[in-house]
Amino acid sequence: MQSHGHHEEVIEDSNPTDNSEFNALLVKRRSFLKGGAGLTAAAFFGSFPLSSFARTEEVGVNLARPTSLKFSAVPHYTGDDMLVAEGYRAELILPMGTPIVDGVEDWRDDRMVLGESFKYRMGDNHDGMWFFGLNNHGYDPKHSERGLLAMNHEYTNPNLNPIENYTKDDPLAEKIYQKRRLASDVRREIHAHGVSVVEVKRTPTGYEMVKNSPFNKRYTSGTPTKLSGVAKGSEFVKTKIDPQGLTSIGINNQCGAGLSPWGTYLTTEENFLNVFARGADKTVIGDKNDKRASRYGLKENTIGDDAYAWHTPTDGEAHEFEVWDATAKAESVLATDDHRNNFNTFGYITEIDPFAPKSQAVKRTSLGRFAHENCAFVPPKQGEQLVFYMGDDARGEYIYKFVSDAKWSNIDIGGGLKAGDKYLDKGALYVAVFHEDGTGEWRELSKENPALADFTSDAEIAVFARLAADKVGATKMDRPEWVSVSPITREVYVTLTNNSRRKEEEVNAANPRSYDGKGNQHGHIIRFAETDGQTGGRFRWDIYLFASPFDKAEQNLSKLTADNDLSSPDGLFFDPRGVLWIQTDDGAYTSRTNCMLLAALPNKIGDGRSLTTSVGKETHMGAVATPDTLRRFFVGPQGCEVTGITMTPDCKALFINIQHPEGRFGAVAGGQTPRSGTVVITKKDGGVILGESLM
Ligand code: FEO
Ligand code: CA
Ligand code: CA
Ligand code: CA
Repeated sequence: MQSHGHHEEVIEDSNPTDNSEFNALLVKRRSFLKGGAGLTAAAFFGSFPLSSFARTEEVGVNLARPTSLKFSAVPHYTGDDMLVAEGYRAELILPMGTPIVDGVEDWRDDRMVLGESFKYRMGDNHDGMWFFGLNNHGYDPKHSERGLLAMNHEYTNPNLNPIENYTKDDPLAEKIYQKRRLASDVRREIHAHGVSVVEVKRTPTGYEMVKNSPFNKRYTSGTPTKLSGVAKGSEFVKTKIDPQGLTSIGINNQCGAGLSPWGTYLTTEENFLNVFARGADKTVIGDKNDKRASRYGLKENTIGDDAYAWHTPTDGEAHEFEVWDATAKAESVLATDDHRNNFNTFGYITEIDPFAPKSQAVKRTSLGRFAHENCAFVPPKQGEQLVFYMGDDARGEYIYKFVSDAKWSNIDIGGGLKAGDKYLDKGALYVAVFHEDGTGEWRELSKENPALADFTSDAEIAVFARLAADKVGATKMDRPEWVSVSPITREVYVTLTNNSRRKEEEVNAANPRSYDGKGNQHGHIIRFAETDGQTGGRFRWDIYLFASPFDKAEQNLSKLTADNDLSSPDGLFFDPRGVLWIQTDDGAYTSRTNCMLLAALPNKIGDGRSLTTSVGKETHMGAVATPDTLRRFFVGPQGCEVTGITMTPDCKALFINIQHPEGRFGAVAGGQTPRSGTVVITKKDGGVILGESLM
């Protein structure tokens, strides 16, 4: 999340290591492959059946990647509405508070709806999402007319609550840790987090929800969730609520999202720190327990974000809110005598089967615990292990990779959470090291790695993955946000949104910019290609794009213009054709333009050159952008972040989310309160997005 609205900007910065800014191991630079023009997914994969992607002959429309971008670029914009490229329509659906079943009163602009009612309404701050085709039998990755939309609700804005409540603070509270909030408001926030699953169907102008569909369901921060994988039942996740360590009390801070190769939803837990508090602790500052909590941002006598303070209501049920207080209490004999370990049950890739509304969400602990942005897989090949990539979004955090033990079988498509048990519970976790010379390597986070001799078990390594990654010398990145894998080249793209703390003397080749004492203000997109096979230990990388205002010459290394300049790239999505969609969550360029969505046609690693940034760091950059390969497609309303992106299999509808809009955008959704919502973008002539006109 970026600074916005009423919440303070709380971007975690808990990495005290001096890890690698200089992984100065000099490896002879390999000559990069030169990319070719006009690449298509089919050219690389032929008729290989990609589980998530339809092919032209299956959906009856042309799904070739466009050879160049031809729509008229959307200009910079700072108003309260949204702008989309000419010939397209943008329709708002599912604003925050929308009831998803009958029997729940409509959203009220005075925000007086009961907190518990959010178990049956769209939550707040829509973020990552995925469209799952639905036919009469269930999951159908080729079906577009009808589908299930699974959607994250990242966090809550104070304007979710009645206005008189959020302006009050307890005058008796001397320390922030002691502030008091109302049970009704905290319940509203607990249930406005999480995930919504709603059935949607195509209309003449876009899509609409099927209210009361048996698939419609909310998962919230109060919905019991299973723990699975390496840390399940380990001492680190045994809690007062569940001394067996098999469950978590809910899901929280769902940020980016993705699909699994078998057709379930992979949601994430990012800034879960915000809703926890830690008071005067019995553990000694600097001891193992303190280091573990602090490395995840939870220092003694703090609240992750004091706007939440979920542990504070005194007008709730007995013990209802103390679960959010992770203090190791002086009177506790065992860790399970208080709620300290609840904190360790958050921070996971979490799997939901949208087609099985009676099932529980499952936290896949083997993929490591950190501030997960999203999780992207490489198009699977029959008989090969699966590979997933993930970013940890906080300043100076790392990029990770998970390789399943199990080998892929197409039989598992539609296999639900059982397939998840097979592929996500056993495997190897790695963290990325980016060398100066354009190569990189994956270092294993397991007991197999002698550098991790201090860790007692693989469970400890997974639950405290950041501490393990510190030990093996991972490279500190400029806030890794979304990851997406090109279906054409299998290269992996990661947005590094910005990093205000990147000092000039701390730049490295993979994070080579720092300006005006403000660090890497505008961010960049890095990409890498595995060189020892997808499951192997080595890769090469370059920087696909440097974000910058077009008129800041020193920073504008990718030669952006007013038609395609951007700042703080965040959401990232390769559509089935290999078009790359880039979204922004920006606070550094909003004087000139609101956040946006751009379309891009990247080539491949090595299509650019080496250069030296103005702070004297040599790096490896991709080809500069041109209007044919990068263009602004959409600009959102003032104050918003444009995030979350998915497309129907026929590429005729693109769904994006408008998060925390301000100004008069509320009127668009009905009422005065500006509300987050989903925008469905379709072509007015009914054609394929970015396809040739049917006229
Ligand atoms: Fe929730 Fe890193 O964005
Ligand atoms: Ca962001
Ligand atoms: Ca956000
Ligand atoms: Ca994000």
